[in-house]
Amino acid sequence: MTAITIITGASGGIGEALAYQFAGLGEDLLLVARSGDKLQRVADEIVKRHSCKVDVLELDLSLLDAVGTLVSYLKENDLSVKHMVNNAGFGLNGPMRELGIEAQLNIVDLNVRVLTDLSIRFLDEIEANGGGVMNVASTVAFLATPYMGVYGASKAFVLSFTEALAEESKHRNIKVSAVCPGSTETGFGERAQMGRSDLFDYAPLMSAEAVAEIGFNGYMRGETIVVTGTMNRLLPYMLRLTPKWLSRLVIGRLMNTEK
Ligand SMILES: NC(=O)c1ccc[n+]([C@@H]2O[C@H](COP(=O)([O-])OP(=O)(O)OC[C@H]3O[C@@H](n4cnc5c(N)ncnc54)[C@H](OP(=O)(O)O)[C@@H]3O)[C@@H](O)[C@H]2O)c1
Repeated sequence: MTAITIITGASGGIGEALAYQFAGLGEDLLLVARSGDKLQRVADEIVKRHSCKVDVLELDLSLLDAVGTLVSYLKENDLSVKHMVNNAGFGLNGPMRELGIEAQLNIVDLNVRVLTDLSIRFLDEIEANGGGVMNVASTVAFLATPYMGVYGASKAFVLSFTEALAEESKHRNIKVSAVCPGSTETGFGERAQMGRSDLFDYAPLMSAEAVAEIGFNGYMRGETIVVTGTMNRLLPYMLRLTPKWLSRLVIGRLMNTEK
C-alpha cells in the first residue's frame, strides 16, 4: 500500500501552491477538484520539478456520494492517506436572503460536512503513516461576517473543529493544523462575487504561494493555528480588544454589497 498526500481544491489558488509544498517532501500526491483539465496541468508541472507521482481525481466534493467515490478510488489503487489537506472551499458575498438557500447550503456541504468527514475518516491510517490533517480556514473564522455570513460561520466551524482535533491528537503521532489565510490573490474573489463590496480594495492581498509556504511550514512545525502574514496575525489580538458590535459593524460595512 502506498501512503499519499490528498489535497482538495488543488486545481488553482492556495491548493495548487500547497501541492508544490507537499511535493517537496517527495511523497506521492492525489489532487482533487472539479476541473480535471486544470488538475492535470498542475500535476504535469509538479512532476517536472519534483520526484513524486501525482494522480488527479476529478470530483465535485460537495455531492453527497463524493467521499464514497474518493474512498473507492483509494481502495482500488491500494493507497493509504498520510497527509489530508482539506483546502477546497468557497464563499458568497451578499445578503443571505438574496444569495439563495441551495447555494449557501452548498458552502456548508463543501466547507463543513466534507471537511469534517475527510478529517476524521482516515485518522487511523494517518497516524500509522506519521502524517496529519491540514484544514484551510480563514481569518474570517475569528469574527462574524455580515454579507458573507454562511462562509464566515463555516470557517469559524473549521477553526473550532480543527483546534479540538489537534488537542485530541496531541499525544498521538499526528499533526493537526488550521491554516488561516487573510485576503489572498486566487480565484476565490471571483467565485464569491466580491467585486461588489469593498473588502478586497482595503485588505492587502497575499500571493497563494506565500500563504502556502507559511501554512506548510507551520503545519510541519506542528502549530495548531497558522495565521498567514504579519498583519493577519495581529487580527485575533485586535479582535480580543474590540467589542463584537464594533467588529460586526466594520466588517459589515466592508462586505456590504447593497450600497
Ligand atoms: N483567497 C482568499 O482570500 C482566501 C482567504 C481565506 C481563506 N481562503 C480559503 O482557501 C481555500 C482555497 O481557496 P482559494 O483562495 O485558493 O480559492 P480558489 O482559487 O477558488 O480555489 C478553490 C479550489 O477549490 C476547488 N473547489 C471548489 N469547489 C469545489 C467542489 N465542489 N469540489 C471540489 N473542489 C472544489 C476549486 O477547484 P474547481 O473549481 O476545479 O472545483 C479550487 O481548486 C478555501 O477553503 C478558501 O475558503 C481563501
